[in-house]
Amino acid sequence: MALVTSKEMFEKAYVEGYAIGAFNVNNMEIIQGITEAAKEERAPLILQVSSGARKYANHTYLIKLVEAAVIETDLPICLHLDHGDTFELCKSCVDGGFTSVMIDGSHLSFAENIELTRRVVEYAHDHGVVVEGELGRLAGVEDDINVSAKDSSYTDPDQVQEFVEKTGVDSLAIAIGTSHGAYKFKPGTKPQLRFDILEEIERRLPGFPIVLHGASSVVPEFVKMINENGGNMADAIGVPEDMLRRAAQMAVCKINIDSDLRLAMTGTIRKYMAENPSHFDPRQYLKPARAAIKEMVRHKLINVLGCNGKA
Ligand code: G3H
Ligand code: 13P
Ligand code: ZN
Repeated sequence: MALVTSKEMFEKAYVEGYAIGAFNVNNMEIIQGITEAAKEERAPLILQVSSGARKYANHTYLIKLVEAAVIETDLPICLHLDHGDTFELCKSCVDGGFTSVMIDGSHLSFAENIELTRRVVEYAHDHGVVVEGELGRLAGVEDDINVSAKDSSYTDPDQVQEFVEKTGVDSLAIAIGTSHGAYKFKPGTKPQLRFDILEEIERRLPGFPIVLHGASSVVPEFVKMINENGGNMADAIGVPEDMLRRAAQMAVCKINIDSDLRLAMTGTIRKYMAENPSHFDPRQYLKPARAAIKEMVRHKLINVLGCNGKA
């Protein structure tokens, strides 16, 4: 099995009412934890790399680790650039072996977003690579850029058909109330997503795959583990799992998860260090951290995404 695009994954997911998990990867243990769970659950997978991850771990190291995961799992795995912000970055990932790229022009004007996205699509399609675009702007932190709630905006369903037709994108990320990071909703308020907007977009773009960013549930078990072991994430609140499940049964074919991986890893390491203050071999604390990622991903594949057994 070689790396694949997300085209067939999305076609099947749309028809059968589930979503593919798109998990952010930054190092070997994260890749191993995710892919071991997917292998055991026979789940198709998207592994995504942000520009920050690429700077941290190096393009070649990440590519080689993902290729190793393909060999070890024999699963269909799509390697995706998360939040590409320039044509040059997308081109570099297309040239460097990624099978999917996101061009995120959501901060630009509608016309500029179309122009930039169309340019990336032309190049990527010429090289057999698929493209995700974005309309609407999520709140939260990504790549050190903090988008405040007042600067965020829901996707306007009136714009989606024109955007997809003029750019030729293969999937579309939308903003319906999710946000990046671990602090998604105000404490004391009821988390809500705009399913009415999703329904309207689905009606305007029948059969077209929609992507949900900022979709970590901020698993309480790991927030507790962090808070009990010297951390302070008291107000962390994520997207309720039942809402993600509902979105996965609709037109949402790709659900992005990063913060939950970070919380699982950090919570487990904090606990391990608190219980074993004299240990200093990284393998001792990375092993349980990797196992925690694996079990958390398994839970998502089965109970949230519904993509287990679909590979
Ligand atoms: O949406 C952003 C992802 O969580 C990646 O985060 O840019 O800090 O690697 P990062
Ligand atoms: P979370 O911060 O909710 O995990 O979102 C990740 C994401 O959207 C990556 O693009
Ligand atoms: Zn995102």
